[in-house]
Amino acid sequence: MTERTLVLIKPDAVARGYVGEILGRIERKGLTISALELRTAPTDVAATHYAEHEGRPFYPSLLEFITSGPLVAAVIEGPRAIAAFRQLAGGTDPVEKAVPGTIRGDFGLEAQQNLVHGSDSVESAEREIALWFPHLASR
Ligand code: PPS
Repeated sequence: MTERTLVLIKPDAVARGYVGEILGRIERKGLTISALELRTAPTDVAATHYAEHEGRPFYPSLLEFITSGPLVAAVIEGPRAIAAFRQLAGGTDPVEKAVPGTIRGDFGLEAQQNLVHGSDSVESAEREIALWFPHLASR
């Protein structure tokens, strides 16, 4: 069954020149890029995106980081796209959780500057797609 997921290529990955590498991995997996935009996230969009983490110690610096420079927002589609992208990304902590061969395992060192975000459920994906690409909201 085709799914869609919201992917962010975070400001650290854009600054380090990994946009092409990450999009290439997505395409080589067999997933389809159906929307793509380079933009600097406004604080209100970032705060809504990460609302579930409000109150956690890292939340203020997470907002500062994610709004610090251009990122790439994308809608990715394909069979089991949510799990497939999270497999490509690797675990949140690039050293403790992500294994070599994944985006974070290959290129990351920190849980905050961990290169990419991918939605974690169908509900999150639809909420996040509506936030970043309002014209693509499902309803
Ligand atoms: S956790 O720790 O299981 O709740 O992590 P997760 O739900 O996968 O995602 C947490 C998001 O917050 C970002 N972030 C951090 N996570 C853990 N520890 C620290 N110190 C931290 N700092 C920032 C992390 O990059 C996750 O962002 P997304 O964009 O959701 O992957």
